Amino acid sequence: MNQERRELELFLESAFGRGDPATGCAFAPGRVNLIGEHVDYNQGPVLPVALDRGSFVSVRRRDDRRARLASLGFDQRVDVDLDRRESPAGWAAYPLAMVRALEDAGHAVGGFDLAVSGNLPIGAGLSSSASLLVACARALDQLFCLGLSPSQQAEAAFAAETRYVGVACGIMDPMACSLARKDQALFFDCRDGAFEHLPLDPEALRVVVIDSGTRRELIASRYNQRVGECQQALAAIQAGRPGILSLRDVDRETLESARSRMSDVVHARALHVVEEIERVFDFRQALLRRDYRRCGELLGASHRSLSGLFEASTELLDDLVARVSARPGVFGARLTGAGWGGCVVALVEPGGEIALESWLRLEYEGGNRFRIIH
Ligand code: GLA
Repeated sequence: MNQERRELELFLESAFGRGDPATGCAFAPGRVNLIGEHVDYNQGPVLPVALDRGSFVSVRRRDDRRARLASLGFDQRVDVDLDRRESPAGWAAYPLAMVRALEDAGHAVGGFDLAVSGNLPIGAGLSSSASLLVACARALDQLFCLGLSPSQQAEAAFAAETRYVGVACGIMDPMACSLARKDQALFFDCRDGAFEHLPLDPEALRVVVIDSGTRRELIASRYNQRVGECQQALAAIQAGRPGILSLRDVDRETLESARSRMSDVVHARALHVVEEIERVFDFRQALLRRDYRRCGELLGASHRSLSGLFEASTELLDDLVARVSARPGVFGARLTGAGWGGCVVALVEPGGEIALESWLRLEYEGGNRFRIIH
């Protein structure tokens, strides 16, 4: 990681000339969610893990109000006046969105030169954007001595993405990129922000992420549609039980009592959410008692629900999950992230990751399209 930092600092100098040495330099990981999918915007609990890949940001101060931005991965330089609040497209939107979010929260941010790099696949459901935003928050925090806590950095990343990049997403990704630690699972409660780190014993369990290489069009519109369907379910429930504030507060009985006030589709979406929330609590217990077989079963149940009730899977992901789950040494697998493409997460016995990789390469027809990235 030090090598990546050094490389980025040199790139900053080559992009914008010699100046003060970089005084803010930060990394933030991507994340893979073990369980708790499409529950964060319903105030449910989630259980992500930090990856060892992520985003790097290097910054140095300027005396004026300009921000000059460069990316090691994209051949594009951007130079903007912070007071004009310009919004460039692509990766450069993220650091500038972060500046605005920090200013909204009352922090004084001056001009800077900034360089970014990253080693996460983009659009694969591993939070490349939240990772970039959290890395920007960390680097700007160092540079301007803002004194932000990790949760505040995540909140700024959430505000930046939803308000200024204009992407509808939940709080899970920025919190995971900010709070999660390597080799520990983060149990994060999206209702009240409470969290705990749960041990993942590397002697007994490995987390494997397989990138299916598929990136679906229209993810944003399908995602927004699901958010809307969950809201419809909540409204139907609230018509009979006004005290209920989110699907987090709904059990199966309450959902069934409002059954006649919602369509079959809306009911199916809500049922996924209600049951997925239960699965997260079960998974937490199973992890604590090191019952990895049970953890794997819960992954399988989560995938079936995401595919059947929530309709967020694809034929390719269903096939990949079914075959991976049937391999020896695999406790369970499921799609991870928003869905409609992206990655599969599997829990395997130690050594299973190597067996899984060679099976993908040699035996799964077309399996060499897939990349194991963790
Ligand atoms: C995307 C969003 C998250 C979450 C997941 C589904 O990754 O950014 O907030 O809603 O989908 O669990």
